[in-house]
Amino acid sequence: MKNQNYKEALNLPIFKTISEATDELALDSYVIGGFVRDYLLQRNIPKDIDVVAIGSGIDLAKQVAAKLPGKPTVQVFKNFGTAMIKTADLEIEFVGARKESYDRGSRKPAVENGTLEDDQLRRDFTVNAMAFSLNKRNFGELLDPFSGIADLEASILRTPTNPDITFSDDPLRMMRAIRFAAQLHFVIDTEAFQAIKRNCERIRIVSKERIVDELNKILLTEKPSVGFLLLYQSGLLPIILPELTALQGIEEIEGQRHKDNFYHTLEVVDNIAQNTDDLWLRWAALLHDIGKAPTKKFQEPVGWTFHGHEFVGSKMVYKLFKRMCLPLNEKMKFVQKMVLLSSRPIVLSQDIVTDSAVRRLIFDAGEDIESLMILCEADITTKNPNRFKKYHQNFKAVRLKIEEVETRDHVRNFQPPVSGELIMETFGISPSKEIGIIKDAIKEAILEGIIPNEYEAAFQYMLEKGHELGLKKS
Ligand code: CTP
Repeated sequence: MKNQNYKEALNLPIFKTISEATDELALDSYVIGGFVRDYLLQRNIPKDIDVVAIGSGIDLAKQVAAKLPGKPTVQVFKNFGTAMIKTADLEIEFVGARKESYDRGSRKPAVENGTLEDDQLRRDFTVNAMAFSLNKRNFGELLDPFSGIADLEASILRTPTNPDITFSDDPLRMMRAIRFAAQLHFVIDTEAFQAIKRNCERIRIVSKERIVDELNKILLTEKPSVGFLLLYQSGLLPIILPELTALQGIEEIEGQRHKDNFYHTLEVVDNIAQNTDDLWLRWAALLHDIGKAPTKKFQEPVGWTFHGHEFVGSKMVYKLFKRMCLPLNEKMKFVQKMVLLSSRPIVLSQDIVTDSAVRRLIFDAGEDIESLMILCEADITTKNPNRFKKYHQNFKAVRLKIEEVETRDHVRNFQPPVSGELIMETFGISPSKEIGIIKDAIKEAILEGIIPNEYEAAFQYMLEKGHELGLKKS
């Protein structure tokens, strides 16, 4: 990292093309931001490359596109003064170097053309403000006026200018700081963190989509609690996800305490991160206990209870997803289902496991039974090693039982062995509530183990039920 020339970082043919185009237009240009940072950190090189031109980024993009095979189209975003070229494997964004000054009268930023250093100064972090030259005269030279490389070596996130300015210019950067800290195992510089605390309320002006993007990235890190604790300590979390911070705290009545469900939740998320990369299952882990805050009660003689928290929690998932502009589709339904069923396997594992209880669990979880088991295993956060071992063993037993029951009874993708049409035909009736009653009775009988999940048995059972309802075989 001591070497100040990084030509070898720029061996993709695109950089040579940009360099030639820059020369032809008599401009200067630099690759900046994530590409430089990730190259120096020896991370996977990102597919999106940011190029800053001292002059018009749009003109440079057009000049570059004209030189590329197939002459890709240039997408121009006039309002932002940026342009983008997409090739088969890269997205290159061009922007003119800017200097931002604030018009006191209108509070609107007046964007002026600036030098490279002006542009670097108004970026988020010093490690994101480093640039490699694409100019012929100093191709590959690192331009780092704010000591990004020293911060990178020390794993520090620091803003190039006064952090209050950096964060109030774009409050999303507060979340980016925390996300980078979690993703890259960096520490946020103390002054910058204090500034996040001071400016946290400004997060309210950021669109939900962009907040969720950052939350998702934090959730997908190796140890999500790192990011969530920083969000909590900075004051951002109570603004973004108050349902979660409502779980924080331990109350004591008559010597009885309940656990701190916020810290417990973070442990569950860390646990699940070791076993799945599924973003939605990680969301389910994050939200699995949110119903505990509104349902908490102290009841004599049992102590603390959270009756119905799974149901209340699954309803809260919808509201939270809606507020945060998260998808209201099958992903949300999956999270709701996980929250709703989150205690079922635990109850099973503490009791003697009956076939019918397992059949009901498989029936209710359907395709998602494995995800549910992963969630429930992650939910074991006891610090008592004996209990930890015992709970995991119990879950192993439940898993075996699930396999055994499913192999025999096939209730995972339950299809009624007797159809509504057959019921109508058999009794010569038209669509009516009796059909629902009979179908339900058959399903219940199968789940309870009264009859096997087979056509013959179900047909006989249908006849019996029809008879009870006063229907006659036609
Ligand atoms: N940037 C900024 N403030 C933001 C977003 C971006 O200053 N709110 C600057 C940073 O210099 C950043 C560059 O724009 O490096 C590119 O931004 P982006 O592509 O969003 O992020 P990367 O840093 O490339 O990292 P990642 O792809 O992981 O988000």
